[in-house]
Amino acid sequence: MNTRAHDYLSGLFSLDGRTALVTGGSSGIGRAIATALARAGARTVLVARGKQELAATADALAAEGCEAAWVSADLATRPGVRAAAEEAAAVYGEPDILVNSAGINLRPPMGELTEDDWDRTMAVNLDAPHLLGRRFGPGMAERGYGRIVHVSSQQAHRAFADSGAYGVSKGGLESLARSQAEAWSAAGVTANTLVPGIVMTPLNARLSADPATVAALAARTLVGRNGMADDFATAAVFLASPASGYVTGQSIFVDGGFSAH
Ligand SMILES: NC(=O)c1ccc[n+]([C@@H]2O[C@H](COP(=O)([O-])OP(=O)(O)OC[C@H]3O[C@@H](n4cnc5c(N)ncnc54)[C@H](OP(=O)(O)O)[C@@H]3O)[C@@H](O)[C@H]2O)c1
Repeated sequence: MNTRAHDYLSGLFSLDGRTALVTGGSSGIGRAIATALARAGARTVLVARGKQELAATADALAAEGCEAAWVSADLATRPGVRAAAEEAAAVYGEPDILVNSAGINLRPPMGELTEDDWDRTMAVNLDAPHLLGRRFGPGMAERGYGRIVHVSSQQAHRAFADSGAYGVSKGGLESLARSQAEAWSAAGVTANTLVPGIVMTPLNARLSADPATVAALAARTLVGRNGMADDFATAAVFLASPASGYVTGQSIFVDGGFSAH
């Protein structure tokens, strides 16, 4: 690449000097996003529960020369979220980029959904992103730069495979992005949502084990295949970078056209 092209692209997309916090950064979509942000230059803190997966991800990034660290925390409780936020901010300083990818999909049929299923789903998928936004959004606004990226689901837009509490939580998450965008965009803090279709990650382990279902779902996309975690890398870098400063409050589908027909 010639120098002019290189300088132009890094001016748009480089995350050098930025810090990022990625929940769910140890697996699937969150891991791919954390990897992309770190490769683009951000000092990146991964937050999830499983220490082994966190350490493996951070070690893989460090082996590439990226700056990455991890914090083990349970985002299903408010004290857990608060502790995670403080621990993460202590590593590289207050984050400029917050990605909420941690999520659970419990899938009992609506009639069998317990209050505990509902509460746990809302706690991880909606309360944690809200609390992390409250903790970091105002500081981003004071500093004049911030990027909040949520990961929702096509189930925010349609009932699908026992959407139950999950679809409700993801619908709320997209509304949260709009509320955050309303609050802080004028101060340089954008808030957007990436909307996956079907992605072959551990979250979908049961589904991926059935080749007929995998093929049927792939046929419902326009691209002709199901999503891979890495499909989210470039969209996440865009939404985390200076290049997306005029994009806010949006739900951006990265789903191979699943939602387009
Ligand atoms: N895969 C898909 O087809 C698909 C489709 C639509 C939307 N999504 C959304 O995409 C996001 C990422 O999903 P994925 O497919 O990448 O799933 P995944 O591979 O299962 O990753 C989920 C991540 O969230 C973390 N996590 C779960 N519960 C947590 C808790 N209580 N506290 C802290 N961390 C927790 C997990 O780590 P620990 O378990 O170690 O805590 C893991 O890092 C989710 O929000 C999901 O709803 C996925």
